[in-house]
Parts: sequence; C-alpha cells; structure tokens
Amino acid sequence: DWTPAAFVQETIEKIKAQVGDKRVVMALSGGVDSTVAAELVHKAIGKNLFCIFVDNGLLRKDEYETVLESYKHMGLNVKGVNAKDLFYSQLNDVSDPEKKRKIIGRLFIEVFQHEAAQLTDIAFLGQGTIYPDVIESVSVNGPSVTIKSHHNVGGLPEKMNMQLVEPLRFLFKDEVRRVGREIGISEIFLGRHPFPGPGLAIRILGAITPEKVAMLQEADAIYIEGLREAGLYDKVWQAGTILLPVQSVGVMGDERTYEFTIALRAVTSTDGMTADWAHLPYEFLAKMSNDIINRVKGINRVVYDISSKPPATIEWE
Ligand code: XMP
Repeated sequence: DWTPAAFVQETIEKIKAQVGDKRVVMALSGGVDSTVAAELVHKAIGKNLFCIFVDNGLLRKDEYETVLESYKHMGLNVKGVNAKDLFYSQLNDVSDPEKKRKIIGRLFIEVFQHEAAQLTDIAFLGQGTIYPDVIESVSVNGPSVTIKSHHNVGGLPEKMNMQLVEPLRFLFKDEVRRVGREIGISEIFLGRHPFPGPGLAIRILGAITPEKVAMLQEADAIYIEGLREAGLYDKVWQAGTILLPVQSVGVMGDERTYEFTIALRAVTSTDGMTADWAHLPYEFLAKMSNDIINRVKGINRVVYDISSKPPATIEWE
C-alpha cells in the first residue's frame, strides 16, 4: 500500500544515500512539482540544496515576490534572479507561438546555467519531474505531430552533465499533492491551477510588450481573485485571461474608445488532455467584465471562451 508518509521517509533516505555530502542545484517555478521536490531534497540534505527562481517577466501579478518570499519562509536556500529585461528584449516583435516557446525555453536554460555556474562543487541537478512528464516526453519524441512544444522547468538539458535527483519521477499529480501535504507545504502551492512554463507569453496573442504584460497581469489578478471570492477557483481545473490582438470601439462617458479585448478562459478537466469550458454563472461573468473594464486601462471589451478541448486547446497559443 502506497502512503505519503512511507514515501516521504523512504525518499529522504534514498536522496541522502544518493547525494551524500555533495551539493544539488535546482530550478523552482512556483508550481506544485518543483516545490514538493525541492522540499523533499531540502529535508534530506538541508543547506546543500541551492535553488534558483527566475523572474522571466511573464509570471502572474506579484507572483515572483510572493513565491520567493514563501520559499524563503520554508527555509529553502533560494536565489531569485530578475531576468525580465532579457526575456522582453529577446521576445521583442516575436508573434509565432512556437518561436516564443523556443526563445523562452532557451533563455531559461541560459539564465539557469549562468547562475548554476556561480555555485561551486555542484554535483547534482534536482528536478520536479513527475510520471506523466516521463511518459509525455516519450510521446513527444515519437512520430506524432507536435502540437505544442511544452516548455517547463522540468526540461533542463541532459547536456548540463550532472546526475539527476528526481524524487517524484514515479508519482502522479494527486500523489505529489498528498506528499506535499504530508511534508507541510502550504495549500497555496498545493491547490493552485496549472500554469504554463512560457507563462503569460502564450496568453498575449501576437507580439509581447511589457505594457501588454502589465495589462494582462491586472486583468488576470482580478479574474483569479474573483474566482476565489466566489468560491469557484477550486471548482475549475484551470483559469486565466488572454489578451487579444484586436482593438474595438467602445464608449466611456461621452468619449469614444478604441481599446483591447480580454478573453476569459476557465475549464474543467481531469488531466488537461481534454477539457470542457466551465459553465460559470452569468452574474459572476458580468461582475468580472465590469471589474476588468473599469479597472484595467486599455481594455474596453471582455468575452468568455466557450470552446472545449478538442478541438480547441486550453491555451490560445
Ligand atoms: P493546451 O493548451 O495544450 O494545454 O490544451 C494543456 C495544458 O498544458 C499547459 N501548457 C503548457 N505547460 N509549457 C507548460 O509547462 C507549455 O509550453 C505549455 N503549453 C500549454 C496548459 O496551461 C494546460 O494546463
């Protein structure tokens, strides 16, 4: 019988045996997997674990500061790296979704490697790889067509030439959450929706600018906070806002406006492979539309995405 308590104990012993008194470096994303994996390694080897958390400028509003603070609070030895400008400059004028993913993936690796190189005597690379990632990367390399080349922090290159420490490699997501609960990780980490590695870059259709990121962060924060307040956050599998590259006419007071549109997305799903659009209450959608249009400068229209997967995908890019 698999129990989180036994798993934790065994895994800590295994990590101790594998790593000994050597050092491990690990990238954190703020997501469930990397956080639980890091805390397990931390429990096993303490200050010999060095964590790196990169701000790519594409995270949710205040996410970088809040998450970094939580990591420090957990006692993790973590370095925050503000790389926003690098990401914005390299993404300048790039509209193609796959190009965005490739650039973000490459820059992430560059930043991580640069930071890791500042540390001395690192012998291992820790990763929050979980079982579905292992299966997925097999199918991704197969003959099937790549629909989206997923990038996330689980995908650091073999070329880093380090042995891997992957404590969650044989677990499914719900087991990771149970392990996280067992070792006292905050529900704020455990209960969060999935968030794509390329972040808001794939929720800004067309070219990315820091101004567009700021606009989308505001709209997203209103929506996510609204879902929480209405008790809907835990009822959907994932939710977010998308900034469309469309301007349309509106009226504010007695002025004509010509501004952008935000699409709201919320889906129910069990694994993200298929998904239904969430039937959110009209009253809730009405409130979100008002709040976003009134509070986010540059937005004069809000629409709700009523497409399921397939044939649509969860993200718009
Ligand atoms: P799609 O849009 O393919 O998304 O229906 C399915 C799930 O995968 C997430 N997603 C990504 N996650 N890197 C990630 O780490 C990516 O490039 C990426 N693209 C999509 C998406 O948020 C959803 O949870």
